Amino acid sequence: MADTYDFGLVGLGVMGRNFILNVADNGFSAFGNDLDQEKVSALIEEGGNPQKVNATTDAQVFVNALSTPRKIMLLVPAGKIVDAVIESLLPLLDDGDIIIDGGNSFFTDTDRREAYLKEKGINFFGAGVSGGAKGARLGPSIMPGGSREAYQHVKPIFEAVAAKYKDEPCVTYLGPKSAGNYVKMVHNGIEYGLMQLTSEIYDLLKKAGKLTNNELHRTYADWNGGRLQSFLVEITSEILTQKDDLTDNDLVDMILDKAKQKGTGKWTSQNAMDLGIPVPTIDIAVSMREISALKEERTKADSLYDRPTPEETVKSSLVDQCEQALYFAFIMAYAQGMHQLADASKEYGYGLDLGEIAKIWRAGCIIRAALLADITEAYRAEPELQNLLLSKSFIGKVQGTVKAARELVSYGALNGIPLPGLSNALTYFDAYTSQRLPLNLIQAQRDYFGSHTYERIDREGIYHTQWEE
Ligand code: 6PG
Repeated sequence: MADTYDFGLVGLGVMGRNFILNVADNGFSAFGNDLDQEKVSALIEEGGNPQKVNATTDAQVFVNALSTPRKIMLLVPAGKIVDAVIESLLPLLDDGDIIIDGGNSFFTDTDRREAYLKEKGINFFGAGVSGGAKGARLGPSIMPGGSREAYQHVKPIFEAVAAKYKDEPCVTYLGPKSAGNYVKMVHNGIEYGLMQLTSEIYDLLKKAGKLTNNELHRTYADWNGGRLQSFLVEITSEILTQKDDLTDNDLVDMILDKAKQKGTGKWTSQNAMDLGIPVPTIDIAVSMREISALKEERTKADSLYDRPTPEETVKSSLVDQCEQALYFAFIMAYAQGMHQLADASKEYGYGLDLGEIAKIWRAGCIIRAALLADITEAYRAEPELQNLLLSKSFIGKVQGTVKAARELVSYGALNGIPLPGLSNALTYFDAYTSQRLPLNLIQAQRDYFGSHTYERIDREGIYHTQWEE
C-alpha cells in the first residue's frame, strides 16, 4: 500500500468524505485521515474498493500511503485546527510535499502558513472550495492560490473533480500566497449580498403582492428559467415548496428569522473598508444578519411603532418589477465584489485575472449564475476593467432594469418594507455614476473646523481657507 495513493485528505466530515469520493470517481486513488474511527470506517465502506479509497486514523500510515510529492488536502474547520493539523503532519513530510487548506481560512492566516511552510520546504495552498456538500461530491468550484510550479502536481486532480461549465473545469491557478482564500472570501461576500437580495424580494412579493408560498415557488422557478438563472434563485424556489414535517405548515414559515454567520461576509466588508473600496450591498447584508439576531429587541420595538399597511399592487406587474430589480441588484453585488478583487490584486500582488475568476464561478459554486457568463465575457473583452458598470456590455442590462429598482425602493420606503440590499444597490449605482457628488461640502466642513485642506476643480494644488465665522 505504501506510496500508492494519488491524493490525501485530512478531515472526513461530510465535505471531506464527499471530496474523496469525488476524487475516486474521477480515476484517482485517495487516502483519508481523521481521528474519528467511525468516520474512517464509514469512508472505507462507502468507497467500496480499498485500492481506490482507503483511510486511517494513524497520521504516519496516512503519510506513508501517499505518492510523492504528497498532495494532502485539509478540510477541517478554519482557525487553530488548521495549524494543529499542519504541526502534526510536518515531521512526517518530505521536501516538496504539498498541503492544501480547503477551508474558509482568513487570508492573512494563509500568508503566515505559506511563509512558515516554505521555510520548511513544504508548498502550501489556500484553496477555497465552494458548492457545499453536494458540490464536494459532484463537482465544486475550486479557488487555489500558492506556488504556480507546485500547482502543476495538483492541477490534474482538481481539474478532474471540479464542476464543469460547458466542459471547462471550474478551477484555475489564481495567484500566489493567499490569492485563493481571498477570492473565496469575496465569493462569500457576494453570496451574502445575493442571499439578502433574494430574501428581500421574497418579503416584498409576500407583503405587497400577497403571493402565497406556492406562487412564490413558481415565480422563483420561472425566474430561474430566464436571465436570473442561478443556484440561489433555484434553491429559493425549492425551499418555498418544502413542507414542514412537524406541523401542517410550509417549512419556510416555521424557520426563525435569525440568520447566523461564520465570518467570511464580515471579513469581506472589513477588508473592503481597509482597501477603501465601496461594497455597500455586502456591508448591508452583514448588518442585516446582525439586525436579524436582535429578535427580542425587534419584537419589542415592533409593538412601539406604527407601520403603514402596504398599498395594494397589481400582482403581475409587481412580479415583473421584482424580476428586473433583482437582476439589477445582482449586477451591483457582483460589480462590487469584482471591484474589490481588482483592488486587492494590486494591493497584495496577487496578479488576479478577473475573467478567469468569473469563469470558474460559472458552475459548482454558491454564486453560480447565468450572469457570470456575461461577466466572464466582459472581463475577457477588457481585462483591465475597473468596474463592471464601465463595461459597454452591461450598460443596457443596467439601464433596462434600474427603473424597476427605483420604483420598488420607493414603494418599500413608503410602505415600511425594509429593502436595505436593494436600496443600497441603487444608491451605489446612483453614486458611482454621478460625475459630481456633494462631498465638496464635506471637504469644506473639514477645512472649516480642522484646517484639513481641500483641492479645487479649476486648478492643481492643496488649499486652505480662513473661513469667516
Ligand atoms: C460555499 C459557502 C460556504 C459557507 C457557507 C456558510 O461557497 O460553499 O460559501 O463556504 O461556509 O455558505 O457561510 P455562513 O455561515 O457565513 O453563512
